[in-house]
Amino acid sequence: MEVNLQNYRWWQRGIFYQVYPRSFQDSNGDGIGDLPGIISRLDHLKWLGVTAIWISPMYPSPMKDFGYDIADYSGIDSVYGNMEDFDKLLHEVHARGMKLTLDFVPNHSSDQHPWFIESRSSRDNPKRDWYIWRDARPDGSEPNNWLAMFGGTGWEWDEQTGQYYYHAFLKEQPDLNWRNPEVQKAMYDVLRFWLDKGVDGFRVDVMWHMIKDAQFRDNPPNPRYEQHMATYEQLSPVYSTDQAEVHDIVRAMREVLEEYDDRMMIGEIYLPLDKLVAYYGTDNRGAHLPFNFLLLQMQWDARQIASMIDQYEGALPAQGWPNWVLSNHDQPRLTSRVGKQQARVAAMLLLTLRGTPTIYYGDEIGLQDVPIPFDEVQDPQGLNMPEKNLSRDPARTPMHWDETENAGFTTGKPWLRLGRNYAHRNVAKQKDRHHSILTLYKRLIELRQSEPALMVGNYMPVHADKQMIAYMRTAEGHDSFLIALNLSHKPSYFTAKHIDIKGTIEIATVPGIEGSRIDGVINLYGDDGIIIRLDK
Ligand code: GLC
Repeated sequence: MEVNLQNYRWWQRGIFYQVYPRSFQDSNGDGIGDLPGIISRLDHLKWLGVTAIWISPMYPSPMKDFGYDIADYSGIDSVYGNMEDFDKLLHEVHARGMKLTLDFVPNHSSDQHPWFIESRSSRDNPKRDWYIWRDARPDGSEPNNWLAMFGGTGWEWDEQTGQYYYHAFLKEQPDLNWRNPEVQKAMYDVLRFWLDKGVDGFRVDVMWHMIKDAQFRDNPPNPRYEQHMATYEQLSPVYSTDQAEVHDIVRAMREVLEEYDDRMMIGEIYLPLDKLVAYYGTDNRGAHLPFNFLLLQMQWDARQIASMIDQYEGALPAQGWPNWVLSNHDQPRLTSRVGKQQARVAAMLLLTLRGTPTIYYGDEIGLQDVPIPFDEVQDPQGLNMPEKNLSRDPARTPMHWDETENAGFTTGKPWLRLGRNYAHRNVAKQKDRHHSILTLYKRLIELRQSEPALMVGNYMPVHADKQMIAYMRTAEGHDSFLIALNLSHKPSYFTAKHIDIKGTIEIATVPGIEGSRIDGVINLYGDDGIIIRLDK
């Protein structure tokens, strides 16, 4: 049956783009990006062709974890603007035919949130049970051995009330008690507040952390721990994360979304594949898209990647829609991970796989990790475990718009230093260059969005060896494509045995060969990727 795009929802047909608001565009010279800044750059996103924006948190926050410590779930931090700016942003995004999704951080609030201030004020405060309070063990030590992601124990002693509270991240980010129905209701109302305004969905922060073991049992040691890893990795978090009951919460969130038309949620979940796909929920009534971070975490190796794609495709529940991510604000930049040449191949992979892609701001111009001198480090993960080189700042540096001072990001002093190469690696310079990575992104996006086979079609693996992977995308009634990617620096070739590869190169990572005919044999330079439009 001919593919009908109307049968797919906007988030299946679309492409997400993550904006880290501190670093996108400053409008008032304070060196920190803001909502009016984002508005002023929406035309770039429209031009690029992405269809949905996810903004990292812009709510009132003491910024201990740069907005992932929220002091008011229904407001805007003054550093980013005000609610009028937000309403305008939403309006302007919609006016351009795009969607806006927000970051929802349900697992923990800031310790400055009025709920926590109340909760810690006394043991009999009505909000005491909104957070996770436990007695010390008889010897005065922490209630169990759970560790915080950002270093040290997960428990903080509260002198005034003589109990510990649990925090999976910083001590300034106390975990909410999602077993408490009042917490659930308050948080669902937060979702409704933004949905009533018209936001199109949420990226839900650390979804797999929301429910903890009811008995608070000790986590076992992690046999795979190595010295360079974060101290958190010493234990396997089998009791502090991914508890069965979390799926009831995810489902309840989904039900809130379904009180509205056509909204969605993406869950942030770092788990092995079999556990990850459970977040689609029974009968796909959980997260619309549990983020798939497999490409972020693996070796850049053709065979391993090919096998992982197959495993992922195979593990998806029936009707579960796939998605792919190459970078985000918590991980090293793609270009630094795989190199400049392979960053192009990676872009081609991301934008030709089956499933919704998410692009991290700056990847479209090949931004690299920027080394931040130790006395300028801002990220608590970097500051708390200085010897482990885990700071996330290098991947959060300001966007490069043009060659003017501070790359057009700010007229003030940027909150994080910019990459030294901004004078030539920037949007303005790359925009009109046929060979730029930005042009490659734009063309890949255009092709994906205009070809049903690439947008929603089937995926079929065709070949994998130690250098190269090749796969086909097909949709009945439409042109088919074969994608061949050389993930190595050396030339590679293959001859298809079971299928007839005849067609024309539509897009190549190095555009010179576009338009060439392919007949049976594929021959690639190192670091080359091609998309072949197959003959009918
Ligand atoms: C998520 C966010 C990360 C944040 C953490 C705690 O992993 O992506 O940036 O530090 O949650 O909220």
